[in-house]
Amino acid sequence: MTTIALIGPGAVGGTVAAWLAQNPDLSVTVCARTPFERLVIETPGGPITASPLVLTDPAQAAPVDWVLIATKTYDTASAKTWLDALVGPRTRLAVLRNGVEHLEPFLDRLPAERMVPAVVDIPAERGAPGRILQRRDGWIRVPDDAAGRDFVALFAHTPIAVSTTPDFMSEAWKKLALNCAGAVNALVLKPSGVAHDEAVAEVMRTLVRECVTVGRAEGADLSDDLADAVIAGYRSAAPDGINSLHADRLAGRPMELDARNGVIVRRGAAHGIATPANTMVVALINAAAG
Ligand SMILES: NC(=O)c1ccc[n+]([C@@H]2O[C@H](COP(=O)([O-])OP(=O)(O)OC[C@H]3O[C@@H](n4cnc5c(N)ncnc54)[C@H](OP(=O)(O)O)[C@@H]3O)[C@@H](O)[C@H]2O)c1
Repeated sequence: MTTIALIGPGAVGGTVAAWLAQNPDLSVTVCARTPFERLVIETPGGPITASPLVLTDPAQAAPVDWVLIATKTYDTASAKTWLDALVGPRTRLAVLRNGVEHLEPFLDRLPAERMVPAVVDIPAERGAPGRILQRRDGWIRVPDDAAGRDFVALFAHTPIAVSTTPDFMSEAWKKLALNCAGAVNALVLKPSGVAHDEAVAEVMRTLVRECVTVGRAEGADLSDDLADAVIAGYRSAAPDGINSLHADRLAGRPMELDARNGVIVRRGAAHGIATPANTMVVALINAAAG
């Protein structure tokens, strides 16, 4: 029996935990902030349910084979309070989150070879604790190393396309390019359709071009047409779609602004690359939400 503890059973974490729990050879425990009775996921193929053990206090936890973290990046510090109890000498940690800094916050707890950074594209929304709408089967990509391959194997029974990639860094920066443009929606409080306004689209392209320049300096392989591809994606999406930065701002929650745009500014500065558009959008969203 492989033991798994999922920290952060929200839209992504709850979906992943429920799918993993469909395999009787996997023992899934959920580490939650807000408790619930069971997971009910409306998946593209119909509803699935799971009743994993739900813990709300790290004192109840014991070491497991795998820890999966799926909190928002702004909840990293509280998520880490679970790790003392969950991590034993052979435990591996998978980090399912947006951004390009998956492992950095956890390097003080585990060696990098026991960690798996994961780029996630599973569109999902939580209606209530344990109740989630999974809009597409989606995919998860992880590095092609021993831990990454073992992570992929955990999902063999699920319809989620979980795979390794030989170039994880480029995957993470490509997702960041998409996400950084979404700051415009959070700033003007308008959903995806605002990208049909050409002047707004050009601001989004500028954010993405800065991301591409910094990502290339970091070593990512990013195509010249990425900014146009990002805009095409926004324009073909449901015009009333609201990205999670925008949703967090609307709800008065903290935002993943540093993980989605601040990181471009910080990493750019380290390479001597100016990132005025991302610097401005971070300042304006912080000022507007503050
Ligand atoms: N949702 C998507 O479609 C999607 C797609 C791709 C990538 N992502 C990325 O995936 C990550 C997770 O996003 P999400 O949308 O799943 O977020 P979410 O729905 O807000 O879920 C986060 C979960 O973490 C829980 N949590 C926070 N602190 C905790 C702690 N100390 N201990 C245990 N649980 C804790 C929250 O508890 P409460 O129940 O108390 O709030 C919530 O259940 C983010 O980096 C996001 O950008 C999301």
